[in-house]
Amino acid sequence: MAELKLKNIIKKYGKTQVVHGINLDITDKEFIVLVGPSGCGKSTVLRMIAGLEQISSGTITIDDIIVNDIAPKDRGLAMVFQNYALYPHMNVFENMSFGLKLNKTPKQEIRQRVEEVATILGLEDLLLRKPHELSGGQRQRVAMGRAMVRKPAIFLFDEPLSNLDAKLRIQMRAEIKLLHQRVDSTMIYVTHDQVEAMTLADRIVVLKDGYIEQVGTPLELFSHPVNTFVAGFIGTPPMNLVDGKIFKQEHHTFVLFETGLRIPVPDKEGIDLLHDQAVVLGLRAEEITPADTQPQLPEEWRFPGTVMVVEPLGNETHLHVDINGVKLMSRSEGRQLLRPNEDITLGLNLNEMHLFDAKTTRVVY
Ligand SMILES: Nc1ncnc2c1ncn2[C@@H]1O[C@H](COP(=O)(O)OP(=O)(O)O)[C@@H](O)[C@H]1O
Ligand SMILES: [Mg+2]
Repeated sequence: MAELKLKNIIKKYGKTQVVHGINLDITDKEFIVLVGPSGCGKSTVLRMIAGLEQISSGTITIDDIIVNDIAPKDRGLAMVFQNYALYPHMNVFENMSFGLKLNKTPKQEIRQRVEEVATILGLEDLLLRKPHELSGGQRQRVAMGRAMVRKPAIFLFDEPLSNLDAKLRIQMRAEIKLLHQRVDSTMIYVTHDQVEAMTLADRIVVLKDGYIEQVGTPLELFSHPVNTFVAGFIGTPPMNLVDGKIFKQEHHTFVLFETGLRIPVPDKEGIDLLHDQAVVLGLRAEEITPADTQPQLPEEWRFPGTVMVVEPLGNETHLHVDINGVKLMSRSEGRQLLRPNEDITLGLNLNEMHLFDAKTTRVVY
């Protein structure tokens, strides 16, 4: 069992506060990803959980025991870092078993645990090699193996894949997910890469400037971002976010942009938008496509525009388009045989529209 509770966690370095009262409950065997831009406090939070960093105030509880003053090695967790920190003069077996040896685990048991983990990680033929005789991916596996042999109830990962090339990163990502399915431990994983967060997490915690912006499953964050930061951070390409204001006319509501473009806001129950209210329209690129690919859209949701840039990716095409002076990113499946400066009719799926208050950045529709 490994349930973890962070209650009002604050971290100050000298006078500078960098983590501002984090509250988070992590359930047993959950895969939690902390994601956010560089400097938002991810590593600091993880290191406080590990006990490598003193917390300035608040409590950290593991299985109902407050661990604030418990030494890192007695918290039942193991950490995998970005720089693997393997001992260069020790071979793989020695690197993996080092912690157990320090703990005075019997030799027989050390051998058994290392071999078991080496088999899971595909390292069984490399046990006698030194780190410099391994590839980056293999070294990363040894670093994970070293954590796994200790059978921790909680794994902590701090950007473990960022030193690997793109292809290997995707492969190791799947291996870490597979590992989680096998070992039944709670995992807390830090990354700045939202794709890594989306692919790995049961729940994602989005951090910015030492505050939690939103906690939710990948699809909750994708479909219901609570503010413009999460809306723009989660998803590729990023959600279109455009400043405008609410324009009400008789029973109809529109978003009016500076350029004069007006986009209708579909009726939704319990939503109260004020005339002239400054808002940010959010619409994902995949909801903006050449109109002929979405024949079911109503006429008022079609807009004449111009193609500015075409980005063919093979399986999909990204178009930078201009609709009456408003610049948007469109994403459609397959190959679009379009050229820059070509006129095009775009269909906007306004059922998927988000509106955020411009001042608070919070979602209002
Ligand atoms: N030892 C330290 N002394 C002072 N400030 C620090 C220290 N470690 C981190 N910080 C600051 O705390 C903030 C969060 O850092 P960090 O947790 O490393 O961010 P992340 O891992 O999200 O990139 C940053 O502004 C960073 O400069
Ligand atoms: Mg960091």
